[in-house]
Amino acid sequence: MSALLIAGSPSARSRSAALLDAVAQRLSVQGALVDRIHIRDLSPQALLLADFGHPTVTAAIDQVAQARVLVVATPVYKAAYSGVLKVFLDLLPQTALKGKVVLPLATGGSPHHMLALDYALRPVLQSLGAKHILPGIYATDSQVTVTPEGACEVHADIAARLDDAVNLLITESLRPSQAHAGRFAPIPFSQVRCSV
Ligand SMILES: Cc1cc2nc3c(=O)[nH]c(=O)nc-3n(C[C@H](O)[C@H](O)[C@H](O)COP(=O)(O)O)c2cc1C
Repeated sequence: MSALLIAGSPSARSRSAALLDAVAQRLSVQGALVDRIHIRDLSPQALLLADFGHPTVTAAIDQVAQARVLVVATPVYKAAYSGVLKVFLDLLPQTALKGKVVLPLATGGSPHHMLALDYALRPVLQSLGAKHILPGIYATDSQVTVTPEGACEVHADIAARLDDAVNLLITESLRPSQAHAGRFAPIPFSQVRCSV
């Protein structure tokens, strides 16, 4: 299995990228290959002016097209995901994530905006056709430490959730596409129950 890790922070020393490193390390232990896009390394002008033909942009779009598994990490900015990630996602074809399994990750200064993953990022990933978006993982700044040398340490709770997420990612990526179709078959209205 191979996975594409997308870092959506504009910062060089980034906590959300540190979460990606923790995922990469777990994937490697399980024998998976890891490829990466740091959006901050793409041409800022091409991103801002939506230059679809810029070589750094076309190369990144190709990486997304080749991947079956993606891990997307972002900082929370103003109760949503980063603008850097947004301008990149805007350059992807409308069905860029069709048939792909996606794990969203985010870091934020406080727990208050943890739902940004579900309310802001998830609908965009869905609109790009993602087949299966796994439950996201949100860590606060106090749960992710990045040293000046670039080493990172995550809180035990987050480490355990990353372990589970990577196992699920591998299981889901091995599942044939047909199986996904079966799992999400429509439910007749008469069988819909509500919790209130
Ligand atoms: C411009 C800006 C806006 C931010 N907005 C929020 C916010 O709305 N909610 C929050 O919890 N943290 C917010 N933060 C804190 C970052 O989400 C947090 O420090 C995050 O871990 C940074 O990730 P990074 O190191 O990968 O860039 C903001 C930080 C910046 C620089």
